Amino acid sequence: MPALSFVATANCVRYCGATPVFADVQADTCLVDPARIESLVTERTKAILPVDYAGQPVDLDIIRDIAQRHSLVVIEDAAHALGATYRNRRIGSHAAMTVFSTHPVKHIATGEGGVVTTDDDALATRLRAFRNHGIEVDARERERRGDWVYDMGELGYNYRMPDILCALGLSQLGKLDAWLERRRDIAMRYDAAFRDVPAVMPLTQLPDRESAWHLYVIRLNAEYLRADRRQVFQALRAEGIGVNVHYLPIYWHSYYRQMGYLKGLCPVAEAQYDRLITLPLWAGMTDADAGDVVQALRKVVAAYAA
Ligand SMILES: Cc1ncc(COP(=O)(O)O)c(C=O)c1O
Repeated sequence: MPALSFVATANCVRYCGATPVFADVQADTCLVDPARIESLVTERTKAILPVDYAGQPVDLDIIRDIAQRHSLVVIEDAAHALGATYRNRRIGSHAAMTVFSTHPVKHIATGEGGVVTTDDDALATRLRAFRNHGIEVDARERERRGDWVYDMGELGYNYRMPDILCALGLSQLGKLDAWLERRRDIAMRYDAAFRDVPAVMPLTQLPDRESAWHLYVIRLNAEYLRADRRQVFQALRAEGIGVNVHYLPIYWHSYYRQMGYLKGLCPVAEAQYDRLITLPLWAGMTDADAGDVVQALRKVVAAYAA
């Protein structure tokens, strides 16, 4: 898995008692570098967990090819990428399992929760059992069969999403395309506004895929600035702009440090972390909101111009 992601990507590996192995990212996209993945595979590797960082899909064909050659499962963390496409096909249909989040900051919200997609019937059955205490035959199926018998084959959990939240999610799904379009529109405005600002480098967007624009991430170009990321961040906050940073390399968190991961493990991710800032981006923003963000960022980088 990439070093640059939300901690959940690694935590789910720990829940299984397995050991996360962090691969470095590509500087211009912050997506995991497939060449790095290949060099880290050993006979103990079980799965590849690529992350569609900021909403832009990873190199899924290359990653699937690596997985096939080494008999690994690809579990795509598409928490940022609902509605994104890779080679003209929507995310959710490329990996053995694709995992989405419906946390309130994501494209559609159910309060909390998420979705897994797979086209593998055996995996679907196991996933359904996993969320239902490990029981394969749920109450509806038992009713259909006119039988009370069920077996618990493996240890599962109560990860069922409540029906009320599912209803909310389904109604939100109907709005997804319009919201994606609005996110894209704002991202294009930012791109155009920063084209002549060398201190601000948006993430590179690759031509064979379309981001779902969960995050609009810029990389600061230190050559053109007298200030570091913290100063620029704080100046933007002082301008009333709700900037954020995604993410600290996962293994810098104390839990992972205590496991023995050392600084320097993924130098590209670490160097990128130092220059990343996430600008506000959501479908409810007005053109004027986006204009405020642009104006504030231009003002701050001009004030700190080297
Ligand atoms: C990349 C990534 N993976 C996983 C998650 C976890 O999603 P959830 O909080 O819905 O479990 C998030 C949530 O923010 C995320 O950004």
